[in-house]
Amino acid sequence: MSDSLTRAAFLQKTSMASAALLLSSIELFAKEEEKIIRVAIIGCGSVSNRYIVHLQSSPLVKIVSLCDIKQDRAEAQNKKYNIGASTYNHIDALLKGNAFDLMLTLTDMQMHGALNKIALGAGKNVWSEKPLANTYAEGKALVDYAKLKGVRIWGAPAVVTSPQFEFMSKTIQEGKLGKLASAHGQYGHTGPTWSSFFYEPLGGSMPDLGVYNMATLTGLLGPAKSVMAMTSIVNKEREIDEKGIVQVKEEDNAHILLEHDNGVISHIMCGFNYFDPFGHEAKNQTLHSIQIFGDKGNMRLIGYDWEPKNVVLDNSWTEPPQVHQTDDGGYQWQEGATRIAAALSKNIEPRINVLHSLHVLEIIEAARKSSKEGMKVKLVSSFPYPMV
Ligand SMILES: NC(=O)c1ccc[n+]([C@@H]2O[C@H](COP(=O)([O-])OP(=O)(O)OC[C@H]3O[C@@H](n4cnc5c(N)ncnc54)[C@H](O)[C@@H]3O)[C@@H](O)[C@H]2O)c1
Repeated sequence: MSDSLTRAAFLQKTSMASAALLLSSIELFAKEEEKIIRVAIIGCGSVSNRYIVHLQSSPLVKIVSLCDIKQDRAEAQNKKYNIGASTYNHIDALLKGNAFDLMLTLTDMQMHGALNKIALGAGKNVWSEKPLANTYAEGKALVDYAKLKGVRIWGAPAVVTSPQFEFMSKTIQEGKLGKLASAHGQYGHTGPTWSSFFYEPLGGSMPDLGVYNMATLTGLLGPAKSVMAMTSIVNKEREIDEKGIVQVKEEDNAHILLEHDNGVISHIMCGFNYFDPFGHEAKNQTLHSIQIFGDKGNMRLIGYDWEPKNVVLDNSWTEPPQVHQTDDGGYQWQEGATRIAAALSKNIEPRINVLHSLHVLEIIEAARKSSKEGMKVKLVSSFPYPMV
């Protein structure tokens, strides 16, 4: 978000605009045999504005509960979006309250692992904002715990569901770029102003921003085998709304190198110090943020991977580059939870895969280790590939 765009102005612009574009790729009419998925949201801050509107567009979803440690936030969202849910101020009260099928964890990043574990333990399915947990070990334990409890957990982001991701993946799989060699992704803005957790330990620009490019590039190129990275803190202090100056304790600037199979290397840069006049209003971005190079062609994703505009494919010695996939198919970055609810309702397997989220979590942790110790870090996790 740009410094000049306040949180309130951002929310007003984005959440309202998205109401018009709702889910076209998920069936809009619930069939009789499809179960309505009862959703509970924990964390009723900034991102809940985007989630609530999107969930309300699906006939397969009913939001039954809202919870926030600042209960007035849960109440305010209930009223603002005319939800008719019950409100709570603690996860224990939430679990004792209205029955539900799927919990959405939209709290501070540092709370996700603990809250997700409590919900799984109570036999609830979980959609978690990123990161799924704070460490790979904690995330892996959650996935194992979900299996034990006979429920499911999935994590944001939902970039792999965009038609542009699908186009790029198919283009690669069909060999149109030849032998793949290199890729680059970048995402940054000047940093959130509304909450300090982004700058506190286990916050940082990698789990908040780099996570999108990590999901896209591993999704397109395959699991990473090892990581080398440099991270830093550029701005030592931040001014946070209603809080004042806070010290920055986690990286706000990161470069990450990933080694994939067959000699393919990708690079990601992310940070909270990137001037971008479009900030969160990324639909207006006309420059590319992802590049993939092979020996017979290259591709550029225009816009950001979480809000893509189109894909430019250059694979001819004689013809100019071609613009593809200008249609977004109704994709919106906040659609993950709605898709998961639809998958639960219809008993189908969604493309978003928790093993992929877990792999990205391992990359983040490995990048921090690599930067600290000045060495290459091997990864152990993987996920089913190709995704499309
Ligand atoms: N804001 C965005 O545009 C955006 C976009 C994509 C993803 N996200 C992700 O969404 C998550 C939330 O971000 P945000 O910007 O909405 O933050 P936020 O600070 O606006 O909201 C977080 C909310 O969680 C509540 N909370 C914290 N601990 C809690 C607990 N233990 N129980 C119940 N409620 C608790 C806080 O009181 C707050 O209202 C983060 O993981 C972030 O990375 C945010």
